[in-house]
Amino acid sequence: MSSQKPAQFTEFTNPNLEVMFSAEQIRARVSELGRQITANYTGRDLVLVGVLKGSVIFLSDLMREIDLNLKIDFMAVSSYKDETVSSGDVEILKDLTHSIRGKDVIVVEDIIDTGLTLFRLMEILGSRGANSLKIATLLDKPEPRIKTELVIDYCGFRIPNRFVVGYGLDAANRYRNLPFIGVVKDPGMV
Ligand code: IMP
Ligand code: MG
Repeated sequence: MSSQKPAQFTEFTNPNLEVMFSAEQIRARVSELGRQITANYTGRDLVLVGVLKGSVIFLSDLMREIDLNLKIDFMAVSSYKDETVSSGDVEILKDLTHSIRGKDVIVVEDIIDTGLTLFRLMEILGSRGANSLKIATLLDKPEPRIKTELVIDYCGFRIPNRFVVGYGLDAANRYRNLPFIGVVKDPGMV
């Protein structure tokens, strides 16, 4: 990680980052999503499945806005990123701890880009006997989408085709701890 920012700046005020959504904007939107989910899942057996690692901050904030007796679980999968559509399966690096049979599942993602990873993950989870299976993503970047058939049930913000970091999202595993979502102005400086 280079530290080419001038000395008067901290990570949170890094001049190479342009704020797209402030912590306050994110909090307000996540709260709205939590209220929607609370209303839709009252009386049901809800499990939030976070996709590691990007979703951890969104999931931890979202779950505290859902006023229900829910459970959480996590999965980690390899990404298709540098591969073509037909190049094979996603690899499950970490599977769920508990069965989702009969449960009402919401898969929680940080961002949906091409949709390839999540599409395959939904196929895998779709074969496990859940009562229902939905998607909540903080960000939706529709322009690069390949899996256009992917239905997004809960979406925080729809964004243009820019590379964003913060609030769980990374560039080379950095920036996840930023309290806001920002655009990297000069990717060469990441
Ligand atoms: P997809 O299979 O192309 O939809 O991949 C989605 C994954 O790519 C996300 O879960 C992120 O890990 C990563 N990703 C896509 N766009 C961005 C971005 O703008 N910033 C950080 N990570 C991204
Ligand atoms: Mg991810």
